[in-house]
Amino acid sequence: MPVELLSQLRRELEAKGFGDACEHVVRRLREAVPHYSWVGIYLLDEGGDELVLGPWAGPAATEHTRIPLGRGLCGLAARERRTVVVDDVSRDPRYLACFPSTRSEIVVPILTREGRVLGEIDIDSDERAAFGPQDRELLEGLARTLAEIWEREHEHEHEHER
Ligand code: SME
Repeated sequence: MPVELLSQLRRELEAKGFGDACEHVVRRLREAVPHYSWVGIYLLDEGGDELVLGPWAGPAATEHTRIPLGRGLCGLAARERRTVVVDDVSRDPRYLACFPSTRSEIVVPILTREGRVLGEIDIDSDERAAFGPQDRELLEGLARTLAEIWEREHEHEHEHER
C-alpha cells in the first residue's frame, strides 16, 4: 500500500506549489493511513533555530507550535538530519508530549539536495510501534518530493548564491 500511495500522491502534487503541497500531504496522509493519528509539517524558521508548525491534520491542535532545535524528537531529527522513529514515546526522555493518546512517533526531515533542513513531517500514532520500513519509505519519498517542489520554486535564488 505505501508504495502505491507514494506514486499516487506524487501525481497529485505535480502542479502544486510548496505551501499547497504541504497542506495536501498532511490531509491525504491522515485520510489514507489509519495508524497516522496526527500528521503535521514543521518548517525551519528564517533564523534557522526554531521549527514552526505549518499545516496539520488530526483530532486536536498541539501546543507545540514552535519547537527550538534543541528540544524534542522534532529538534533531534532536524539537528541530525535523519529520520527518527520512537516505538514507545513513554520510554524516551527526549519526547515532547503533545497528546495523551500518542504511543509512537516518526519524524522525517525535508532536506534539500545539499542537505539543508527545510522542515519535517511529524506523525504521531496512538498505536505502539506503529512505524515500520514501509512508513519510512513512504515518508522519506514524500519529503524528497516536497524538497524538489521547494527547489523548483527557489531555483533563481539558488543560482544567485553561486
Ligand atoms: N512529540 C514532538 C513534538 C511535536 S508533537 O508530536 C505534535 C517532539 O517530541 O518533538
